[in-house]
Amino acid sequence: MCGIFGVIGQNAVSSTLRALKLLEYRGYDSAGIAVKREGFLEICKTEGRIAKLQQLAQALSEGRTAIGHTRWATHGEVSTANAHPFLSPNGKFAIVHNGILENYAELKAQLGKEKFTSQTDSEVVAHLLEREHRGNVLETVLTVSRMLKGSFAIVVLSTEDNKLFAIKNKSPLVVGFSQTGSYLCSDIRCVAHWANSVAVTPDNTVVELSDSSARFFTLDGAPLKVDFFVPEAGESLPQTDGDLMLKEITEIPDKLRRAKQAYFDGGGLQLTVEQARKIRRIYLVGCGTAYNSGMQAISVARQWLDVDAIPVIAGEFIYDNYPVDGDTLSIFISQSGETADTLRAAERVREMGGITYAVTNTAGSSLTFACRHTINIGAGGEFAVASTKAYNCQLVSLTLLLLDLGRMRGTVPFSFYSKLVEEMDALPDAVSQILEESYLVARLAERVKDCSAVFYIGRTTDYPTACEGSLKLKEISYIHSEAYPAGELKHGTLALIDDSVCVVAISTDKALKDKMVSSVKEVTSRGAKVVSVAPYELPDCEPLLLPALHPALAGIVAAVPLQLLAYYVAKRLGRDVDKPRNLAKSVTVE
Ligand code: AGP
Repeated sequence: MCGIFGVIGQNAVSSTLRALKLLEYRGYDSAGIAVKREGFLEICKTEGRIAKLQQLAQALSEGRTAIGHTRWATHGEVSTANAHPFLSPNGKFAIVHNGILENYAELKAQLGKEKFTSQTDSEVVAHLLEREHRGNVLETVLTVSRMLKGSFAIVVLSTEDNKLFAIKNKSPLVVGFSQTGSYLCSDIRCVAHWANSVAVTPDNTVVELSDSSARFFTLDGAPLKVDFFVPEAGESLPQTDGDLMLKEITEIPDKLRRAKQAYFDGGGLQLTVEQARKIRRIYLVGCGTAYNSGMQAISVARQWLDVDAIPVIAGEFIYDNYPVDGDTLSIFISQSGETADTLRAAERVREMGGITYAVTNTAGSSLTFACRHTINIGAGGEFAVASTKAYNCQLVSLTLLLLDLGRMRGTVPFSFYSKLVEEMDALPDAVSQILEESYLVARLAERVKDCSAVFYIGRTTDYPTACEGSLKLKEISYIHSEAYPAGELKHGTLALIDDSVCVVAISTDKALKDKMVSSVKEVTSRGAKVVSVAPYELPDCEPLLLPALHPALAGIVAAVPLQLLAYYVAKRLGRDVDKPRNLAKSVTVE
């Protein structure tokens, strides 16, 4: 997934460079800019981070029309040659692309002996535009748009026209206006730094953007009406000397308060009692951390739900045969609201007539348009690639949503409902207490950093927490890690346990403490070091003690020591915790 930006207006070069910095979370292995000059298009691009491009771009004079791109490689290695923008052979067109052209090889073959400068799929579009151009750029863009298959948000700059054009299908593209300019961008929060009126471009649409207006067309050229709205103010990149990830972990206490408030401010479960009682099946659908929060929320709500509730990985949901009907409630969880797998799953449920909910951190994101209802988790901008505060806030929103559903279905007594809602007010202090003792986690990180592998184990509601802890460690420290239901190790994985391995045992349910003691003995007797995350000590473990909490809420807090552990281990290994290798914040390709 990549970040794309286009602007017609004052200071187009500096605006584009600033936008790319805001979009860097979407991919950061190379970047580039193209500026419209008199009779030609000037390109500046480089492998490496935006800072390197900003250095190089100091040589560029300002302009009125520019496009920019920050890349997360899908086709072709990380190199300057594979960085966007791409020029057409005679320099008439420059393009930037976010997505995957599934038929690029076929299109490339049709272009015969034309010389390509990159190994990418995207460059084909620049060549096609020039080959199909007969004088009218809009007609050219429409013609080429009908040739493409796959996911794409493509912005086109040409020497032939003072406008910008775009082709959009499945990858996000926002159109925006301010008093001084017009914009095309991958991300609504980014464009909101300039635009006070925005529109989310529908799939299979061509956009023609001038300095004061936008026209939308179907790929056959029929005009489309698209509504504009006022976006939430764009959040600037936080100014911090330290790491964004640690900053965002320290925000968790305050964001938990906001998540609870945001749930009620957003109207809570927007179903009638009759609709709630008709529901026969529930899916919680997401990817990565979002999937883990769904798994955790369902493992807790299972104690009060009388209906089948299943966590499903979005990328599986699309291609598997999960039954959906009008009595199916599907909750799509996504911090960015732009994850392609999750969007495709939501579109599929909507087509099948299911009830769709978006639980997201990004107002106005594509997911909020794909779903009938939206709950904002109130976590505020999350810029570190490894998701932390969004996970904890998703759990607050999901727990309240599933609690409301139980209350409306009559399986949750009001006394239990109100007690749990009240107990949520204890969460911020509980997290603050863990943050105050984070030095204990930092000290443990010293022992974990040299392990050959780290296994996270937990039973029932602690297993999803184990999954999230393991994902955090993997994605920023690059240490191999896996999560297991605690009772499962002995069915094979125990063969991997030796004195080079560390095990993190999560145990928040006192009723299962003795079971966890047995699991710990199985691994310590084979040489493993064990760290426990529990409100009580476990024998033979290095303890990370949790504050005592309502069992249904323990998972919201138990993740915090694991987030900190991943952070400190990665720091000790000298990793880039905010922008880990091979990753990006929002995966907008399937
Ligand atoms: C989280 O730490 C990961 N970076 C990643 O798994 C992420 O949770 C996943 O890509 C889903 O993103 P979303 O919540 O924006 O949909």
